[in-house]
Amino acid sequence: MNELIENRRSIRKFKSGKPVTREDLNRLLGAAMMSPSACNSRPWEFIAVTKRESLDEIARIHPYAKMCETATAAIIIVAIPQSGRPEGYFPQDCGAATENILLEAVSMGLGTCWCGVYPKEDRVAGFRKLFNINEPKIPFNVIAIGTPDENPEQRGFFEESRVSYID
Ligand SMILES: Cc1cc2nc3c(=O)[nH]c(=O)nc-3n(C[C@H](O)[C@H](O)[C@H](O)COP(=O)(O)O)c2cc1C
Repeated sequence: MNELIENRRSIRKFKSGKPVTREDLNRLLGAAMMSPSACNSRPWEFIAVTKRESLDEIARIHPYAKMCETATAAIIIVAIPQSGRPEGYFPQDCGAATENILLEAVSMGLGTCWCGVYPKEDRVAGFRKLFNINEPKIPFNVIAIGTPDENPEQRGFFEESRVSYID
């Protein structure tokens, strides 16, 4: 298996004093923007956060993003749902962009944690307010980023019973 896929973990504890640079962020965002999207609609925007107070605010408003207290950066993926064709694909498009960020981060020695925002209404409302994200745009998720300070066990695994082979 590809090493980046094998080595990726959700990281929830990061080293302090290890900033994520603008260059790092742009590399991650470049990876996101290389991802496939329905009809190449690219229904996304990104908010790149390194400000300490904003990272702490994210940890405060999201019940499962406390790792942002030690993260040195975060990327918020903002979905722009399409009204015409290809309607309804934005979760898949933004999910693909998210995974590209996670894998690129592994290649850079960075750790990440994907924290879901959409479709939880309270979290969507919290991020709308904190980052001034107005309809029709939707705060889709937040990705905590930093230098890992933990080495969690692998949680993903192959399960043949989940597969139907049509030979
Ligand atoms: C849609 C989605 C939402 C998630 N939301 C959170 C979250 O809010 N907080 C968190 O700590 N982890 C979150 N995770 C990470 C999962 O818990 C993690 O991927 C899973 O337990 C497998 O562990 P691994 O990523 O280390 O392989 C989320 C993952 C996905 C795909």
